[in-house]
Amino acid sequence: MQDLLTEIAEVAASDPDRGSVATYIPELAGIDPGQFGIAVATAGGEVFAAGDADTPFSIQSVSKVFALALALGHAGDQLWHRVGREPSGLSFDSVLLLERENGIPRNPFINAGALVATDTYLAGSSPREALGALLRFIRAAADNDSIHINEKVAQSEIATGHRNFSLAHYLASFGNLRNSVDKVLGTYCHQCAVEMTCRQLAMAGRFLVDSPRMPALVSIERRRRINALMMTCGHYDGSGDFAFRVGMPGKSGVGGGILVVSPGRASVAVWSPGLNRYGNSKLGTEAMERFAHRTGWSVFGVPHSGKDLT
Ligand code: DON
Repeated sequence: MQDLLTEIAEVAASDPDRGSVATYIPELAGIDPGQFGIAVATAGGEVFAAGDADTPFSIQSVSKVFALALALGHAGDQLWHRVGREPSGLSFDSVLLLERENGIPRNPFINAGALVATDTYLAGSSPREALGALLRFIRAAADNDSIHINEKVAQSEIATGHRNFSLAHYLASFGNLRNSVDKVLGTYCHQCAVEMTCRQLAMAGRFLVDSPRMPALVSIERRRRINALMMTCGHYDGSGDFAFRVGMPGKSGVGGGILVVSPGRASVAVWSPGLNRYGNSKLGTEAMERFAHRTGWSVFGVPHSGKDLT
């Protein structure tokens, strides 16, 4: 496993085509696209890492996985009255379907659906309390109390988040927000501004790996469902392509991070800030394609070599 990660990091380091860094959140626009990190936390308790695996980055939409777990903890299956479970086939910030589908977002990973999840885990509490619960969840999953929110990134997004505000107002107009638009947006932008390294994110992702050694933060049934949603919706309109190329549940973020789960085996975090046309990490996706090919961990087929790297 270590040799494979080292090789993957070397291939990424020498790739001249690194995609483009997200610029719509000004604080993220200046990130060096030359960076690449990858880490694997196995069900057996081992951690492997290569490249810039200890450099913190903005997890952005990867946070929607933790937010969904928290929202389900608050509302249980009632959440599915307010958000769907189907891929949207549209970009992460699209407003198109929201009008046609009466303010019920297609899934909890597009921005509109994630705003409903944030509204749900906010419940009646203050943003500070809700974000405290979110950080406690992430820190427990990662077994790391140093994980924090980058306030500058959060403020940068609040100041420029016109699309997210419009999505939230749409939701509110259909009665699908219980807290004020400002409160939901403020909490959501802070949630997206959580900073983690690949090593920390791989550790945190273990709560989605079915194994008796993982922290039991969600039930087995819930894990299975979150993984299913990551597979079908975790990469927005690039979800089909990610399933085709990688074949594992994954959640991307515009910071260039991707969290990937191999159920029963391991959690993988990869990060490179340059994005492809879907807004997902270009080199991260390519690295995961190589990783899946070499490990045989696609859920859609057995390893061609018969070897299992864990
Ligand atoms: O709401 C936004 O636009 C960002 N905070 C998160 C979007 C995102 O990460 C999309 N992922 N690829």
